[in-house]
Amino acid sequence: MTPRRVVLAGPADVAGWRAAARSLIAAGEPASSIVWSVSGQPDDLFAAEEVPPVTGAPQGFSVARGFLELAETGLLHSDPTRFDLFYRLLARVVANRALLEDAADPEVARARDLAKAVRRDKHKMTAFVRFREIATPEGAHFVAWFEPEHHIVEATAPFFVRRFASMRWSILTPERSAHWDGEELVFGDGAARSDAPDSDGLESVWRTYYASIFNPARLKVAAMRSEMPQKYWRNLPEASLIRPLIASAAARSAAMVAAPATEPKKGHRPMKQPERLAPHDPSTLDALRAEVDECRNCPLWADATQAVFGEGPADAKVMVVGEQPGDKEDIQGRPFVGPAGALFDRAAQEAGFERDKVYVTNAVKHFKFEPRGKFRLHKTPGPTEIAACRPWLEREMATLKPRLVVAMGATAARAVMGRVVKIGETRGSILKRDGEPDVLVTVHPSYLLRVPDEERKRAEFARFVEDLRLATPFLKAA
Ligand code: URA
Repeated sequence: MTPRRVVLAGPADVAGWRAAARSLIAAGEPASSIVWSVSGQPDDLFAAEEVPPVTGAPQGFSVARGFLELAETGLLHSDPTRFDLFYRLLARVVANRALLEDAADPEVARARDLAKAVRRDKHKMTAFVRFREIATPEGAHFVAWFEPEHHIVEATAPFFVRRFASMRWSILTPERSAHWDGEELVFGDGAARSDAPDSDGLESVWRTYYASIFNPARLKVAAMRSEMPQKYWRNLPEASLIRPLIASAAARSAAMVAAPATEPKKGHRPMKQPERLAPHDPSTLDALRAEVDECRNCPLWADATQAVFGEGPADAKVMVVGEQPGDKEDIQGRPFVGPAGALFDRAAQEAGFERDKVYVTNAVKHFKFEPRGKFRLHKTPGPTEIAACRPWLEREMATLKPRLVVAMGATAARAVMGRVVKIGETRGSILKRDGEPDVLVTVHPSYLLRVPDEERKRAEFARFVEDLRLATPFLKAA
């Protein structure tokens, strides 16, 4: 039988793959008779003759939404077999809608691995693109060079449009380039590294910024290496700072300065149910983190750098819940790495446990803020955002199965309990709940940072430590 060849417009032509795949599935075409190729790229030598793609309206069949989301991400992978893999999977999902729930199925597992690698690459691009300014007749233009591993430029460029809407910029990569002139986003061919400027005055801004967000108290060199692989270093102005900052971390952590933060307001409106529940299943925290990375349940994702998922041992007996990531957490992608985190670490130690022994997370996973000049001012998440994020917290709890949940502050207490909770009336005692983890409500550490009077601050800190001490028996219990 002559193979049917489908020629896609480019390596990231997900729409083209989708249209062809729908027609081919509707026509009952087996995966073994299709050769997928990309226009302009060397073809499979055995693909014999080119056969026009199937045309005409596909017959009705529906595909689980989960498959489409998985395919839209996984198809951006650089693996040349991806089009075939997702076509095979599509044929099987049409016959068995529950297939994707079978994480042990080799094709499902492979598809998930591809999507995960693409998500990670997209995240790296949002975190490691560094613009350099060049002067043009139209004014300043910012140019960045980046080398993604997968075909993610088109899918990731909208993030930069949202983040740098008022700048004119170009992101150059070996395969594609993205250009924003303040109004329109256009894509062009790839470029060479020498097309991008090497350094400019912005370098020192980046270095100052990086030095200010570097938190010596939470230094984890291995985690830094895996988060910021060395291949990205040569494009990062701050790379030259990494070694000296690590070297001085121990001394600096002793002198951490606490900065003020905002106390959550008490909300009086009843909690709304989320409009879109998070899809069910994945049974590991890593799988859940990957889903949270893609969360669009409320608009907060659009301006945040990334979702900040929980961290800590997967068998932790105690889960600590805060409000939402702050500025530093948003940049670093980890919870409680700023001043409130440093205060929590200190209080936990005084209460008799290391922070590394507990699992730490937030009620809301994206940073809510208001831009104010160069700064991003924390804004308390509202009931709608808390409700939209609550399914993630519930699934984090269901996966971790802690014995005790410590809710720090009104937002966390509301998210954990599912209702408005008065901290003053509930703090300091263990709340028992049928078939669910016990709850300990206490204040949020950022509240302590804002107490103006030193004596009261000390007293409030001591009270916070006493509250946390109630968690220590749970850490040991089987
Ligand atoms: N405040 C929080 O509630 N969570 C964080 O991760 C940081 C600050």
